[in-house]
Amino acid sequence: MLSPLLLAAARSRRMRSLVTAVPVTRGVVDRFVAGEDLDAALRAAGELTGDGLAVTLDHLGEDTTDRAQAERTRDAYLALFAAFAEHGLTRDADASVKLSALGRALPGDGEAVALDLAREIAAAADRHGMTVTLDMEDHTTVDSTLDALAKLRADFPSTGVAIQAMLRRTEGDLKDLAHDGSRVRLVKGAYAEPASVAFQSRREVDRAYVRDLRLLMEGGGHPMIGSHDPRIIDIALDLARRTGRAPESYEFQMLYGIRASEQRRLAGSGQRMRVYVPYGSDWYGYFMRRLAERPANLAFFLRSFVSR
Ligand code: FDA
Repeated sequence: MLSPLLLAAARSRRMRSLVTAVPVTRGVVDRFVAGEDLDAALRAAGELTGDGLAVTLDHLGEDTTDRAQAERTRDAYLALFAAFAEHGLTRDADASVKLSALGRALPGDGEAVALDLAREIAAAADRHGMTVTLDMEDHTTVDSTLDALAKLRADFPSTGVAIQAMLRRTEGDLKDLAHDGSRVRLVKGAYAEPASVAFQSRREVDRAYVRDLRLLMEGGGHPMIGSHDPRIIDIALDLARRTGRAPESYEFQMLYGIRASEQRRLAGSGQRMRVYVPYGSDWYGYFMRRLAERPANLAFFLRSFVSR
């Protein structure tokens, strides 16, 4: 019952000002977010790559309706790539990008603005030998994200995309996406979606995830298994064995601060593991989705008020 409330709060301006105004929030946010600036992102990426993990960096932000803000997000990614190059971190590095942070919701030509900015980001990543993956947002944005993906891939074929198992349409989308070279990050889905478009129970979502995973592992692309779920990870390892996939032909992905020892364990056992590292000051929406995923996180958050 709590998750839908928290996911609704993730989009509420009033809750945003309330939650972000409380100083104690910071300590809890630090568990999930590397920090507010580029230096913090570099530090986290340096530590993770030093431990044999790959990274994908997310400059936090979403739902922008200000063109100047969208351009600042592009600039932040360009600065990140330059800093990665300077610190020798570009090898096998990826950036995760939300089209809504690049102005997709701007009135009139928002989709075109977001695509142009994403293209600039993908071109800069490409120059540095890095890749870009498009995050997937709520179900109303799937068509526009897949459309942008196809356009970006025409010039930058390594562009990846996140696909949500909870959506009923996903199996159909994956049949088009599971082709040679296609980088697809399969996730369960982090948004509140109506029953008309999405499976509602955990059980249904997990079953859909396994069906989708099978499609990806049996296909010719590069599956990116975006999950912390131990059962999903075991099934993925089993599918990799059965399909005869080499370890470099797929990868596991987990979020910064979640199951960190499992991230290292999998990497240590010869699996490719990439950590999604969010950084920046606009952490509210991301943080609220992490609270919604696990009630224990909310309890931890509330306890930090009491124990001050
Ligand atoms: P599940 O929620 O069943 O959790 C399994 C176990 O993982 C839990 O029992 C717990 O141990 C641990 N866990 C999971 N979430 C936790 C949390 N918040 N705090 C502490 N422990 C937690 N979604 C989306 O809609 N669009 C996107 O683009 C992305 N991108 C993305 C990238 C990457 C790399 C990952 C790993 C995930 C995403 N997601 C996402 C989020 C995804 O949709 C999903 O909400 C979370 O990964 C949680 O689902 P799990 O598969 O981990 O399983």
